[in-house]
Amino acid sequence: MDLTYSSPGLLYKQIESDLIATFQKFIQSESYILGDQVRLFEKNFAQYHDAKYCIGVNSCTDALFLALKACAIGSGDKVITTSITAPATIQSILMAGATPVIVDVKAPTYCISPERILQAIDRDSKAVIVVHLHGFPCEMDKITKICSESGIILLEDCAQALGSHFSSQKVGTFGKASAFSFYPTKNIGCMGDGGAVITNDHQTKEYLSSARHYGFSENGTIYQFGINSRLDELQASILNLIMPLLEKRNRSRQTFAQKYSDHLSNFVEFLPPLIEGATYHQYPLRVPNRQKFIRDAAKYGVHLGIHYSKSMVDHPFFRSYCREIPIARKAVKELVSIPIQPEILACNFESISDIIYKCLQNQ
Ligand SMILES: Cc1ncc(COP(=O)(O)O)c(C=O)c1O
Repeated sequence: MDLTYSSPGLLYKQIESDLIATFQKFIQSESYILGDQVRLFEKNFAQYHDAKYCIGVNSCTDALFLALKACAIGSGDKVITTSITAPATIQSILMAGATPVIVDVKAPTYCISPERILQAIDRDSKAVIVVHLHGFPCEMDKITKICSESGIILLEDCAQALGSHFSSQKVGTFGKASAFSFYPTKNIGCMGDGGAVITNDHQTKEYLSSARHYGFSENGTIYQFGINSRLDELQASILNLIMPLLEKRNRSRQTFAQKYSDHLSNFVEFLPPLIEGATYHQYPLRVPNRQKFIRDAAKYGVHLGIHYSKSMVDHPFFRSYCREIPIARKAVKELVSIPIQPEILACNFESISDIIYKCLQNQ
């Protein structure tokens, strides 16, 4: 056996003939930027979320940055966010010229702590960006209440949680705007970079449609800030092909999470929670002697992942923006992702789960 925890190529190989047909149509289309494929994807992606608008952009990093700009957040403003996430969440705040306020997370999901958000709010706080880490929904009942009572804008980073729910409501539909990534390893990925924002706010949609395209308005005149951050036609056509597979793949992630939980029930102290509405973008165990565990699994040919090896305070560039984050600092030393991608587990679940069992026994 020689398997890594994530392998988007396995999905692409399964749909190779459809992909080739899509590329052929794409070549003939003579439409490479902001054409029918992007419009179709935006329509379907908005509809999937029951949202009014979707704006395709070239990454989740830009989606977050442009969403902050659309909310007029910039210099002098503070944006509260989490201490376990991709660095992109923090960089997007800095790109907008605002100051990140990075607070601690909460077990068992290691998503942002609502209590720490509340503590961090001061008169300069303008927004909160929540991150639905590893596909686990944040505590959106508490967080929406805190934001609405404090008059703070709520934005959602859904890069890892496309299709997850909190209390039967899809993540991405709680905030003023929400950002998604279609990086190849995500719940739905393209074959390069891609991202999107969804929103119900018409002004935000108008701002973003123009901001992703140098600031052009429909009549070709520029009235606002803009960059080049377009979702391109090729990536959109790939997404149009893969998006219909999302629900089935997410159900499959949930089924495998349940199976791991059953098979590894002797090691419950290491396991992530089973949470309704989670889509298990990762299935992170918490193993104190992580390096030994990773080495042991590699000996059997299973290569595990770490998301993330550092909390934000461990990055010198972000250190000054961090509050006390003891839970995050400890968790990032122990979290380790075992395979959960449906295409990997379809034929290998039993053997992988047995290997993980043996390696946990060895802890
Ligand atoms: C939580 C989170 N936010 C933002 C990003 C950035 O996404 P992108 O690579 O599409 O800019 C990622 C990607 O890893 C992510 O996991």
